[in-house]
Amino acid sequence: MSVELDIDQMGVIEGTDKSSSESFAWDYLRHYGEWFSQWRNENINLLEIGVAAGSSLHVWKNYFSKAQIVGIDIDPQCRHFADDRIAIEIGSQDDPQFLRAVVTKYTPTIIIDDGSHQARHIVTAFETLFPSLLPGGSYVVEDLALHFGAEAKRWGSDDGYNPPKYFLELARSCVTQKNGNAPWDGPRQIADTTDSVSFINSAVHIRKKDSADRPVNLQLAKQYIRERSLGTLGLVRYAKYMAANHHDAEALFGELLNDTRSDQADNIHFFMTMAEIQRSRGQMQEAIQTLSRGAERFADSPEMLWRYGHWLAEAGRTADGLKILCRAASLCAEPTQAESIVGMIVDIAQSANETSLAVKALRHASSASADERCRSVLLKGADTLAASGSPLSKMLSFLATRMRNGASSSS
Ligand SMILES: C[S@@+](CC[C@H](N)C(=O)[O-])C[C@H]1O[C@@H](n2cnc3c(N)ncnc32)[C@H](O)[C@@H]1O
Repeated sequence: MSVELDIDQMGVIEGTDKSSSESFAWDYLRHYGEWFSQWRNENINLLEIGVAAGSSLHVWKNYFSKAQIVGIDIDPQCRHFADDRIAIEIGSQDDPQFLRAVVTKYTPTIIIDDGSHQARHIVTAFETLFPSLLPGGSYVVEDLALHFGAEAKRWGSDDGYNPPKYFLELARSCVTQKNGNAPWDGPRQIADTTDSVSFINSAVHIRKKDSADRPVNLQLAKQYIRERSLGTLGLVRYAKYMAANHHDAEALFGELLNDTRSDQADNIHFFMTMAEIQRSRGQMQEAIQTLSRGAERFADSPEMLWRYGHWLAEAGRTADGLKILCRAASLCAEPTQAESIVGMIVDIAQSANETSLAVKALRHASSASADERCRSVLLKGADTLAASGSPLSKMLSFLATRMRNGASSSS
């Protein structure tokens, strides 16, 4: 069996210090094999900043069988490395205008910064070039070890520009995406389009988010769903995935819509996911209908009811929504859950000027609640609303006091 040379072995032979057997032990190529092999025989553009003696350019050219290689350097001597698949562009990585002109000619899938290694240059090139990377593309900055210890000053790293810190902050912002990215000093658009940041010995690899739609196979998915007995829930999850990847899921939606009316649908998440899909398709009335069926089926689920109530209120049916939300709150067994529903009720009631209605409903809910701690959360919510400064607030707080004294539970 013939074994192809991998990218590291090519680097060893070319004598580049990026290979696993050279003196500085940068040892990048083993990782590049892992990150870049998907493009080995693809028609991509690879940009490298820093040409020097051209050894890395030859590794790229031989490893990537169809790629256009573009070397950027300030040294005009580098021009002589140009050939049928290697283009050389002379200019500085510190010059955004020049860089933008290069990527206008060659839209890159891979960018490797092995240029001046100056702190400010690294950040300038990254902020200029990353937005031009194709979705799913890779950006690598090499030799970050130079920015530590005694060497750091020589390479321009200080509090203003410090590449390791900069990329660690980008990683931090990536880690916290779910809760709104952690603050970082770079452009927001870069953090928002970063899929992953990984560090190896002395280098960082930033992968850009891929917007390409993923292929689907409904037949295989259905087989999997049958084998795992996941029923309509498995199907609706797959329908959501198909729609998100722009595949035609109309027939499947039709099947699922029928299921919302049948006994087939025996999972609360089925109704919620189905409603989410309808909502994302702009079918708010249909989504509310689905939640209404779900709320009938799962009448004791605060999770189902709060969603139903919230969406009703959003669709302008404030009074109905508040009633359902209060029922959801009364079913909560956890004060924190009750609290977040009360917060929702207070917001909706205030913005729709339905304060008195909400106070009544909350008091109702509190008397219906089975949990002592939840009851007090609900009453507190009613008090907050009653004292919220609306024209009715005086009367409401009067009612609140009377109710507290046990005179009435809902009037
Ligand atoms: C480390 S060498 C590149 C080595 C090469 N990538 C390799 O692995 O064989 C750095 C190169 O960056 C170039 N360079 C220095 N400052 C630059 C700048 N501001 N813009 C672009 N290239 C620069 C230098 O002329 C030098 O050729």
